[in-house]
Formats: sequence, C-alpha cells, structure tokens
Amino acid sequence: MQPHKIIIAIDGYASCGKSTMAKSLAQKIGYLYIDSGAMYRAVTLYALEKGFFDGEKLQAERLEEEMESISIEFRLNAATGLPETWLNGRRVEQEIRSMAVSQRVSPVAALGFVRRRLVACQQALGKEKGIVMDGRDIGTVVFPQAELKIFLTASPEVRARRRVEEYRSQGKAVVYEEVLRNVKERDRIDETRAIDPLRRADDAILLDNSELTLEQQDAWLMAQYRRAAGLDPSDSDAD
Ligand code: CDP
Repeated sequence: MQPHKIIIAIDGYASCGKSTMAKSLAQKIGYLYIDSGAMYRAVTLYALEKGFFDGEKLQAERLEEEMESISIEFRLNAATGLPETWLNGRRVEQEIRSMAVSQRVSPVAALGFVRRRLVACQQALGKEKGIVMDGRDIGTVVFPQAELKIFLTASPEVRARRRVEEYRSQGKAVVYEEVLRNVKERDRIDETRAIDPLRRADDAILLDNSELTLEQQDAWLMAQYRRAAGLDPSDSDAD
C-alpha cells in the first residue's frame, strides 16, 4: 500500500541547512522539493538586472509594475534529479546564490506585493501534497495545515562557516566576516518584517543542528516523516 502523501514544511534561519535537509528527504521519499527562498532570490535577481536598485536601495514601485511579467519555474535537472530555478525561461540556479543577491533579498522579501504573488504560487505547487518546501513562513502562512513542520536553527557562527565552505567548494572567494554579517542581517530583517515574519509555528518541531552530522540529521528527519505519515518511525527501510 502506498503511504498517504503529506505536506512537509521546513522553516528556519538563514543558511542553517534547510535546503540540504529538505532535498535529501524529498529524494528519498519521492516527494517534490521546492526551495521557496529561490523564488525570492529570483525576484531579487530580476530587480538587480533591470537596474531597479540604487546600491542596496530598491525602487519598489518599478518592481511592482513588472511583477506580473516575472515567471519563476522549477525544472528538473535530469542528471542530478534535482529541481533548478528558471527565471523568465532562463536557468538562474547559480546567479541567485551570489552575495549580491543575498545582500538584497530580505528587503525584497519584506514587500507585500512580492509575498502575495509568491505565496499563491507556492500554495498552488502544494495542491497535490507530496511536497517538501523550505523557507521562513511555510508552516505559518503557506501551509498552516502541513502535517509535519520543522523549525531549524543553529548558531550564526556555525551557519556562516557552513555557507563559507559552500562558496569555497564552488571556487568562490568570500570573507567569513561578511557572510556572518549577511546571515545576521537577514535574520534581523526576516524576523522583524511586518508581513509574514520568520517565526516558529506553535506546532513546529524545533531542531538545533549545530552539533549534528548530516547523517544524524537525515535519520532524525526520516523518523519524523514516518511518524507524521502514519508509518512505523523505526522501520526506515520498509518502503
Ligand atoms: O539559503 P538561505 O537560508 O540562506 O536563504 P533562502 O532560503 O535562500 O532565502 C533567502 C531569503 O528569502 C531569506 O533571507 C528571506 O528574506 C526570504 N524568504 C522569505 O522571506 N520567505 C520564504 N518563505 C523564503 C525565503
């Protein structure tokens, strides 16, 4: 018998490994993985490329006028089996992860017209369930009915170190202090914004993964999934 499909919402602070955790689970259980942060990053990249920023200051009205013409899709990369972000027909998976985008994304994500549009797209993607989505407001706003909600955290220093390693493994030179500053600044904006701020849903399970290996984290999440889907939590090889 097929286990019944559920919605899994993973929220938490910047760079704490939400997407690594979400991707790995989705692949194992055959669910769709959606990185909601990639959508906010794609809108930010669009605004940057259109010249809507003066330094870090955004001309929000110009972005609002063009919001309807922004199309964001996730297409499966057949080689990796992972979804990649496409912006208006162009693959932007690498560009959206740049420091230039990271430094501008939180103010863009604080705009009501941006959130309304992207939350509606995210909800449409979850219509059939069988989805793992990570972000900041997935368990509180996008899918308050999700059967499994995780709220992930780790110290800012651990998170910045992991992000620096990720950049360096891709051959990108970054300064630890700058990454740490960005992580803290995004947390501050995400937590204090008026619309859909980052907060733990009352029914979300808290996980601080500062001291966990990826294997420990994956095993923990698999057990949570099995419990939420009504399967035997200890019997992870059964399906
Ligand atoms: O990967 P990382 O945790 O560093 O960030 P991300 O998930 O790519 O998200 C980038 C930014 O998008 C966050 O700092 C938030 O400002 C915003 N975001 C949001 O507001 N709501 C979401 N559901 C997801 C991301």
